[in-house]
Amino acid sequence: MKKFLKASALAASVFAIASAAQADEEADLVVNGEIEITVRTSAPEHVDGLRDIYSGWVFRSDETQAMQMDDFDNPGMIFVEEAIEAFNTVEGSEGNSCASCHDTPENLAGARATHPKWNDNAEEIRTLGMQINGCRTEQMGAEPWAADKGDMLAMEALLASVSRGMPVNVQIDGPAEAAYELGRELYYTRTGQLDLSCASCHEQNYGNYIRADHLSQGQINGFPTYRLKNAKLNGVQSRFRGCVRDTRAETYAVNSPEFIALELYVASRGNGLSVEGPSVRN
Ligand code: HEC
Ligand code: HEC
Repeated sequence: MKKFLKASALAASVFAIASAAQADEEADLVVNGEIEITVRTSAPEHVDGLRDIYSGWVFRSDETQAMQMDDFDNPGMIFVEEAIEAFNTVEGSEGNSCASCHDTPENLAGARATHPKWNDNAEEIRTLGMQINGCRTEQMGAEPWAADKGDMLAMEALLASVSRGMPVNVQIDGPAEAAYELGRELYYTRTGQLDLSCASCHEQNYGNYIRADHLSQGQINGFPTYRLKNAKLNGVQSRFRGCVRDTRAETYAVNSPEFIALELYVASRGNGLSVEGPSVRN
């Protein structure tokens, strides 16, 4: 984290205007010298409150940004390697591995870009993690993995890595509309002792500092994300929980209808940014 003036955070507002020392918000992201990542573009039409959208990468320090430019420097890639093993490992009563049906992870390129999405067979909106567990339980006869942890986040990181550079393109109409509406309502609802909504920070104050943090738009195109703070992969909904707790509000459970809807809505705010997971954040 670059230097910033602590005193300014103690001003009447919790938000401080960016001081002179800040991240290079103009930088471009190319991974391994070949995968071009769209980190800024016009906001999708359905997002009224933003003109342009930015990946969280844009707001990180030069050092943190650099870690994502090369897979050898990206600690999240260790988990991708682990997940390649898991992808080829037979588990469960049916004698299948992921590879039995999907052959290679690359065959699932695009899945990270379109989830959460409506699943016709299950008649529900599924996050990528829910779809992976759907395949484990329904197709493999295996135990589901715990959400937002270990094996699951590693597999999500693998599936994200094969979608890198593809535009996020989450459907918001048709069977996704109800979840979209609920997610949008939650996004703009002020909660907690601090009376803040997601939008208070990530739409109205991105680019400013809150305490030591340079506020991004809270986009999820980079998930799962390796955080230097806890030295592991972090899932989308665990991140939501952290943010809600920071407003001193009651939070929802991972994979509750509310958080599935919020994940779909937040993902759709990033339609047009590239998938860049596993990303690196502070
Ligand atoms: C027996 C075959 C089978 C196995 C084994 C299997 N899947 Fe699937 N998978 C499917 C089928 C069929 C679909 C599409 C229908 C559906 O939605 O369930 C699918 C869909 C998916 C999708 C969504 C693709 C998209 O573009 O929307 C993902 C992601 C996925 N599987 C991941 C996995 C992973 C990871 C594993 C191993 C843990 C796995 N699958 C094991 C059959 C399988
Ligand atoms: C009090 C201000 C505040 C509120 C309210 C808040 N957040 Fe955050 N959020 C932060 C800060 C600070 C960070 C870390 C810096 C950054 O990436 O913006 C963060 C990070 C994130 C990230 C990680 C972005 C990345 O690129 O890794 C996501 C996603 C996110 N927030 C979503 C949400 C959602 C959804 C809500 C509403 C439920 C919310 N936040 C409410 C302050 C807030």
